[in-house]
Amino acid sequence: SRVLVLNGPNLGRLGSREPDVYGNQDLSALRTLLAAQAGASIEIDLRQTDDEAELIHWLHEAVDATTPVILNPAAFTHYSYALRDAAALVTKAGIPLVEVHISNPHAREEFRHNSVISAVATGVIAGFGFDSYLLALRVVAPSA
Ligand code: DQA
Repeated sequence: SRVLVLNGPNLGRLGSREPDVYGNQDLSALRTLLAAQAGASIEIDLRQTDDEAELIHWLHEAVDATTPVILNPAAFTHYSYALRDAAALVTKAGIPLVEVHISNPHAREEFRHNSVISAVATGVIAGFGFDSYLLALRVVAPSA
């Protein structure tokens, strides 16, 4: 089986972007950590885009292929109703979608306190660095 690990805008810059907030490991390090936890029977399909349309398209793909999703919507979290509607398509189809954040948005600026995604997500994990993704993998792929 496969798990989609989708990352929104600016997360391609992990490693050098605000290391005090996001740490100094990049997305390829995250891919390695997830693959190690997943083992041989689960394929980790980790992607990143700065493009809202592409992220929405990937969620449609998850619906069509019945693939569980770990989603870090990045700044889209706070204002993208289009992404929220796409996330709702996933969970309304009975497919798990876990919203994850590296940082704890509630401990940061006011505009980060609201997520338009959370109400349609299966659950939310935030504030644990890359462990947020590893915890999410535990729930979407319990055998991992
Ligand atoms: C983030 C938190 C968002 O507020 C921010 O815009 C990001 C990353 C996180 O993983 O902590 O880009 O989603």
